[in-house]
Amino acid sequence: MSFFENVSLAPSDPILGLNAAFLADTRPGKINLTAGVYKTEEGITPIMSSVKKMETILLQKSESKQYLPIDGDKSYLEQVGQLVFGQSFWQNNSSCISSFQSIGGTGALRIAGEFLKKEIGSKIYISEPSWPNHKGVFSEAGLAIETYPYYDMKTNSMEFEKMVDCLSNLPAKTVVLFHACCHNPSGLDPTLPQWEKLADICKERDLIPFFDAAYLGLDQGIEADSAALRLFASKGLEMLVAVSFSKNFSLYGERVGALYIISGSKEIAEKVTSQVKILIRRNYSNPPIHGAKIVAGILLDPNLRHAWEMELSEMRERIITLKISFCEKLSKEIKTKDFGYLVKTRGMFCFCGLEKTVVERLMKEYGIYMTYDGRINVAGLTVKSIDYVVQSIASGLKS
Ligand SMILES: Cc1ncc(COP(=O)(O)O)c(C=O)c1O
Repeated sequence: MSFFENVSLAPSDPILGLNAAFLADTRPGKINLTAGVYKTEEGITPIMSSVKKMETILLQKSESKQYLPIDGDKSYLEQVGQLVFGQSFWQNNSSCISSFQSIGGTGALRIAGEFLKKEIGSKIYISEPSWPNHKGVFSEAGLAIETYPYYDMKTNSMEFEKMVDCLSNLPAKTVVLFHACCHNPSGLDPTLPQWEKLADICKERDLIPFFDAAYLGLDQGIEADSAALRLFASKGLEMLVAVSFSKNFSLYGERVGALYIISGSKEIAEKVTSQVKILIRRNYSNPPIHGAKIVAGILLDPNLRHAWEMELSEMRERIITLKISFCEKLSKEIKTKDFGYLVKTRGMFCFCGLEKTVVERLMKEYGIYMTYDGRINVAGLTVKSIDYVVQSIASGLKS
């Protein structure tokens, strides 16, 4: 007899579960297009050379592994604040911003979720579709999940009018989660004029915008990719921003992120900070040192910062080149479908427009793994594998 015998078996994670199935597959030519992890042409996820250099410096310089404060490394939070919001906004407004180092982007979302549940209300609106873990993270934090229309799977386009319609009818103080750029899973982002409209709705309706910024720099560069959240901040909106450095610094396993909450005044921000610090203290006490020191060190050193920006732009360019080639090859091979929308998508992800049965066939018969909704991570393709993937999709659609 076991105390735990009534524990039921939980379903595997929709993305990481597929990753595990991929690892267990013994076929040599298998291809993994599931998780949002950047890969090179050689199929590896290397440590960036700017990160390696900073780690060497840290190894020589570090003298203590003392705990960080509950809210994290002050220099890191300041550097990241300037990176995300822009230097002048940060200088003029940082006293109204509560800042917390977090355990990756997921940690920032979770802590924010708990804060919102405790202080604001019990609901959050997320896009339909969204990163599957949004539902999990926010519901574990006690929030009820509602969705707003975002992407039409039939036409592979954004449902902007429907989104506007939905948000325009929400009650005041509703929290609305936006993807700052490179929407996961669709890859389609609002244009700047559309973001203007969304910011106006949030202002008029007294909604609370919450930006998930997990892919800054993977569309056009840090500044351009922060434009939407900077626009909202410049309009004086109180808002939240969850930042992740998993992808753009390739620091996945170091778990580096941050949460920023902009309040209407310094006095309110102080109270917000005090409440979030209690949540952190009771959750994981204080954040880890290493990843934050890497990011802060790189951002503070002009040469390393330049090297990092160059490496990030190489990643970006590789993704764009692969996506254009994937679109061209699919369009040539499969005449019954229009793949033109693929080149409009931003960042690592896009939907291939495949039914679940086709996705399952691709996994079983061709060793090609993607999420069941047909989302792929373009960075998982290589110049060598792209023809095989395109031909397999064409065969999978026929059989
Ligand atoms: C939209 C989105 N938000 C947040 C995250 C979480 O990032 P992290 O690995 O830093 O927790 C991811 C990771 O895939 C993501 O796709």
